[in-house]
Amino acid sequence: MSKRVLVKFSGEALAGGEGFGIDSEILSFIAQEIELLKKEGIEVGIVIGGGNIIRGVSASEAGVIKRTSGDYMGMLATVINAIAMQEALEHIGIDTRVQSAVEIKEVCETYIYRRAIRHLQKGRVVIFSAGTGNPYFTTDTAAILRAVEIEADMVIKATKVDGVYDKDPKKYSDAVMLQELSYDDALKDHIKVMDDTAIALAKDNRLPIVVCNMFKRGNLLKIIKGQDGYCSIVK
Ligand code: GTP
Repeated sequence: MSKRVLVKFSGEALAGGEGFGIDSEILSFIAQEIELLKKEGIEVGIVIGGGNIIRGVSASEAGVIKRTSGDYMGMLATVINAIAMQEALEHIGIDTRVQSAVEIKEVCETYIYRRAIRHLQKGRVVIFSAGTGNPYFTTDTAAILRAVEIEADMVIKATKVDGVYDKDPKKYSDAVMLQELSYDDALKDHIKVMDDTAIALAKDNRLPIVVCNMFKRGNLLKIIKGQDGYCSIVK
């Protein structure tokens, strides 16, 4: 069984039906899912996106905000989400540390790779925030990067859908869910697992990416245990 995993949640997932902001019920749900992993002794790193607050690309679309600034705004959004998640986890007794790729030391720890490893070894959940600390990189890429650094056994991309489909299931009723695909398959244009930078980094480091439905209770644990969870795996 995997000992160390990195779970990536999208910012939008935290928003619930509202599509914006942070829904406390969803935070609590995620915290309980993480608790199941901790009870099994699994070491957990988390990366959360920021799209429920702001998206760098969209913010810059009107041409008023530069893309670089939009991306930095997005990075700060992920810190907000990380702190919310830390509160939800600690509310149910799970020790959690937030680290940020940009220094905001009054708010949280700065990302230090060796310190993150020590936290994980001590059983703490570590939330890696502020993406990679660089504009033009997504939080998916940050998730793969941190997973490679901490030598995670897999990255789990926790989504609203069951897995990866051969075509958009919203548009095509005959879309088929793919159980397993190669990194090269995942790099094909119509397959939206993660952006190319993230996939390429995973491929270079042979890091498996599991795409699954985060809203099915117990699904994360099942997948990590190698049981029959709903998911697609890129490897
Ligand atoms: P150990 O070294 O294992 O004791 O880890 P620890 O994280 O409990 O110890 P530390 O004294 O480093 O941190 C205590 C608390 O302060 C933790 O909640 C940390 O997340 C937090 N903390 C540590 N460094 C910083 C920092 O630079 N900024 C902020 N805002 N909090 C920090």
